[in-house]
Amino acid sequence: MTALWPSIDPSFARDVETRTPTRFRHGLAGHPLLTLDEIARLAEELPAASLSAEPAEKPIAAGDAAGVAAPTDDIGQRIRDVAVNRSWFTLLHVHQVPRYRALVDEVLDDLAEASGMDPADLTRRMGFLFASSPRGVTAAHFDIEHSFCMQLQGTRTLGFGRFADEEQKTREVERYWNGSFGRFHEQPETVAEHVISPGTGCYIPPYTPHWIINGDETSLSMTVTFFNRDNETESLVQAFNTKVARTGLTPRPYGESPARDRAKVGAMKAWAAVRGGATR
Ligand SMILES: [Fe+2]
Repeated sequence: MTALWPSIDPSFARDVETRTPTRFRHGLAGHPLLTLDEIARLAEELPAASLSAEPAEKPIAAGDAAGVAAPTDDIGQRIRDVAVNRSWFTLLHVHQVPRYRALVDEVLDDLAEASGMDPADLTRRMGFLFASSPRGVTAAHFDIEHSFCMQLQGTRTLGFGRFADEEQKTREVERYWNGSFGRFHEQPETVAEHVISPGTGCYIPPYTPHWIINGDETSLSMTVTFFNRDNETESLVQAFNTKVARTGLTPRPYGESPARDRAKVGAMKAWAAVRGGATR
């Protein structure tokens, strides 16, 4: 049962709780759904909205995503040629395809069992696949999800940084909710670096600046993400605050007033119920 997560133990639940980046071993390298050809085939199945392409070589602090996009036509062949076409491809939300949904669930259920977490607490589960050319760069950014980045092919260096202060975090989070994709205009200070190769990966906590630099080989990787109550609450409060800030008011940042945060979460859930959609 724990074949996908051979090195996870109960201490891992603490790393998730404390948002501590952690390197681990996994069993996904060589999985039949995760070869270059299967990833190219999946890209041909996915809707255009689930595909993203960029030049591979870019500054670590690449700023907003707009302006760096590349075409995604003939995506399957482009991915098959990734070793030579200096590109960086993302397949978003691969869990919309049932065989990949099953894989995402298997990974997260294994993870929960091995670390003693309740699988039911790992919600809004998503899967992403990445294929990028030698020396490709994943620009510095942060995510709001808990992410497990698992290297399948090639070796990369994953850097972790931190926000300079709470003010910068508040500013960047507000930019995130206004469409920045969490990307930084300036490279955050480096606090740790991990080399990941096939069979290893890293836990990337929510709201943690990070970037990845490929070595001299093509890189294939899979990331699975989830929310638990911790980042669900934080993200709902921040989405609420962004709406308030658009009216010209200055809301209290997340974490300053737990009672207000609870009220904001309630308001956002009610808003989502009325709209009948997700709150993200
Ligand atoms: Fe990320």
